[in-house]
Amino acid sequence: MTPDFSRIPRSRLPELLQRSPKAELHIHIEGSLEPELIFELAQRNGVALPYASVAALRAAYSFTDLQSFLDLYYAGASVLQTEDDFLAMGMAYFERAAADGVVRAELFFDPQTHTVRGVPMAAVIGGLRRACQQAGSRWGISADLILCFLRHLSEDEAMQTLEQALPWRDHFIGVGLDSSERGHPPEKFARVFARCGALGLHRVAHAGEEGPAAYISGALDRLQVERIDHGVRCTEDPELVARLAAQRTPLTVCPLSNVKLRVFPSLAQHNIADLLQAGLCVTVNSDDPAYFGGYLLQNYTALFDALPQLGPVQAWQLARNSLEASFAPLEDRQRWLRQLDDLFASAA
Ligand code: ADE
Ligand code: ZN
Repeated sequence: MTPDFSRIPRSRLPELLQRSPKAELHIHIEGSLEPELIFELAQRNGVALPYASVAALRAAYSFTDLQSFLDLYYAGASVLQTEDDFLAMGMAYFERAAADGVVRAELFFDPQTHTVRGVPMAAVIGGLRRACQQAGSRWGISADLILCFLRHLSEDEAMQTLEQALPWRDHFIGVGLDSSERGHPPEKFARVFARCGALGLHRVAHAGEEGPAAYISGALDRLQVERIDHGVRCTEDPELVARLAAQRTPLTVCPLSNVKLRVFPSLAQHNIADLLQAGLCVTVNSDDPAYFGGYLLQNYTALFDALPQLGPVQAWQLARNSLEASFAPLEDRQRWLRQLDDLFASAA
């Protein structure tokens, strides 16, 4: 039963949203690369950029759809070359995550973006792994990695990438599926996801961001995913909504991303409140915060500013969903959930 936090005044929301222990479950670490760091790494590695300045690069961040963003995102990631570059990128993200009250982060990374340029898998995973460990020792953040396959490439290439990463099997907890969604249905990756399941890896996939609701069903049925990344187009299929609610399949929703990539015209028209109302396990995430105008806390606060039907009960529910949907050990999840409940109980 939902506790009665409805007496908590809305004016307390900014403080409660910040102080709530939260999990971030949908963050592409390459999407946290700020223009300043892109320029610094480009200079360090002798990479020529087609932009004269940080301001000129930032000014180019105006997107019409997913593909227009991905073109810039892959260009930005091309400055990453050494293990230390990946470490620096990870640490810059964790510093912001700590300030936002993140207690758990599950970082997506795109190895194919780097290995195709000759960057060794060891540098990619090694640097990100060190960042996750330092997040724990420096800020008490629990962090793990999820290796994503690029869906615009072939399944054979995904399989080769998996094999290349297996020497570091203990350094990532799962696999995901990202990049251009339309025209690349989940079924295309059924074999590689089956192999990942046999290896005991967690499985998630982007579906229903730009692609149809059928891609969400496809990811559940053909890839056996445990969470759906985005999933906001599920409302086009009422039976699917009922299924997601009954199974409590988590959706990792990214509000600011959805507006920047024109999935919704504005935050006020976002369907997240309807999804919550329908009983779905919705979570809030930042996706590619350096490109979409905000890290995790900004996604929460912008959403609550834009949608008056969201109040303290929903703030508690969204934070709770994020912790429950995480792949962290059960005892950690239970501890954070108790902290969250205590915070709201003391505010009521
Ligand atoms: N890669 C980075 N961000 C992404 C997104 N929002 N959708 C698909 N692929 C991505
Ligand atoms: Zn994403």
